[in-house]
Amino acid sequence: MTAPHNYDHEREHWNAYAESTSVKEQVEDSEPVFRWTQYRDHPQAPGPELLGTPQSVLEIGCGTGRALAYLAERGVKATGIDLSPVMVQQVTERWGPLGVEFVCAEVLDYLASSATTYDAVYSIFGAAWFTAPERLFPLVAGRLNPGGVFAFAQPPAIPGAYGPQGMYKGGFAGPAMYTYRYSYEPGGWASYLSDAGFVDVDVQVLDAPTPGHIGTLIGRACMPS
Ligand SMILES: C[S@@+](CC[C@H](N)C(=O)[O-])C[C@H]1O[C@@H](n2cnc3c(N)ncnc32)[C@H](O)[C@@H]1O
Repeated sequence: MTAPHNYDHEREHWNAYAESTSVKEQVEDSEPVFRWTQYRDHPQAPGPELLGTPQSVLEIGCGTGRALAYLAERGVKATGIDLSPVMVQQVTERWGPLGVEFVCAEVLDYLASSATTYDAVYSIFGAAWFTAPERLFPLVAGRLNPGGVFAFAQPPAIPGAYGPQGMYKGGFAGPAMYTYRYSYEPGGWASYLSDAGFVDVDVQVLDAPTPGHIGTLIGRACMPS
């Protein structure tokens, strides 16, 4: 189900996120790192090998750009898109010298209007979490080379809360600004991937390192070769 997104509101929300002290520190002071989960040292977490051995990648909703910087340092042609112009300016200054290309765009607009294709497209708590999969996944499929990989990681659904999940921005008084996230059980994400033409579909929840803590939903699928 697709919610009525207002991307002006969402851009403002993500600009505020980009301007927060903790995110600025992650951009300015941190080193390149590729991490699928929210846990720094998750013993069972996969690494960048989930993407195969791509020569080119696109990260959708790239935020701090640290994962792209990690891949660029290893010779991958790395492109990131993000809705927030504030974020894109910060990460271009920080990681542009490594050769990472950043584009400020809404993911559906970008994928629908670009002709460039990639060996892998991925999202780490990024645009795959904030975009209706029935709209996003066919567009991702269209931008992947034969055999290309699509992978994404984000929090699992809260039991019983499925589909678009609306959130007000900045508390519950003042202008009605909101954003959406999308939540499904692994089987729901897998169906959307298969419907979009992906094969070798695998979607699972990886448990947190500490029992009872929030796990990570990780999806991976390929385009037919
Ligand atoms: C939680 S952050 C990403 C975290 C990222 N993996 C990192 O390491 O910083 C989510 C990002 O997705 C971007 N985003 C959200 N909706 C988007 C959309 N529709 N199109 C493009 N980017 C989007 C936001 O601007 C934000 O920077």
